[in-house]
Amino acid sequence: MKFFIDTANLEEIKTAMSWGCVAGVTTNPTLYARTGGKLADFENHMVHIAELCEGLPVSAESTAKTVDEMIEEGKRLAALAPNIVVKLPICAESLAATKVLKQEGVDVNMTLIFSIPQALMAASAGARYVSPFVGRFDDIAEDGVEQLAGIIEAIKTYYTPDQTEIIAASLRTPNHVAQAALLGSDIATVPYAALEKCLHHPLTDRGLEAFELDWKKVQEA
Ligand code: G3P
Repeated sequence: MKFFIDTANLEEIKTAMSWGCVAGVTTNPTLYARTGGKLADFENHMVHIAELCEGLPVSAESTAKTVDEMIEEGKRLAALAPNIVVKLPICAESLAATKVLKQEGVDVNMTLIFSIPQALMAASAGARYVSPFVGRFDDIAEDGVEQLAGIIEAIKTYYTPDQTEIIAASLRTPNHVAQAALLGSDIATVPYAALEKCLHHPLTDRGLEAFELDWKKVQEA
């Protein structure tokens, strides 16, 4: 399973990229708003992220509403850098736009996926990635991991990763990440704080402390 980082924060992206285990970035309007960025700077910000990622896929979300606007904005975003993937929330308009964008060679990440039919419709329209959300099911006291399992099974039954990859999204905890991996998700997109938590384990910290103490003894012997 590949790790993507789910953020538009440049410092978080730089740090996570330096770890060597991150294979892409996903952003959305909320994540861009959190950076304090202005509308006029949005495209430059996406270019900056795309440069930091050196060819790895970067999802930039369109906020267009009509099919024509989605196609136009999608083409404009894709033209910003070769590694930009156009992110579109699933709806009738975005499915139609995805079909056209695919024909034009533009990769689409279809987001806000909460059901098997939505995921299959996105893949069928030609989405390069489908992003089922986990945490938001947990927010409404439903089992997000169980929902993810069904979507993975359905997509894997009909599509290969060359056609459509699954990005498990709305992951908030290391356990969400572990479950996505066990279920066979192609990708997990993880916010910086959760990614950092994934790095650690109390026994790793305890082990490091023990090594340090013992190494001091070796140095002093
Ligand atoms: O990639 C989608 C993700 O950012 C949504 O996460 O935590 O807002 O449900 P969350």
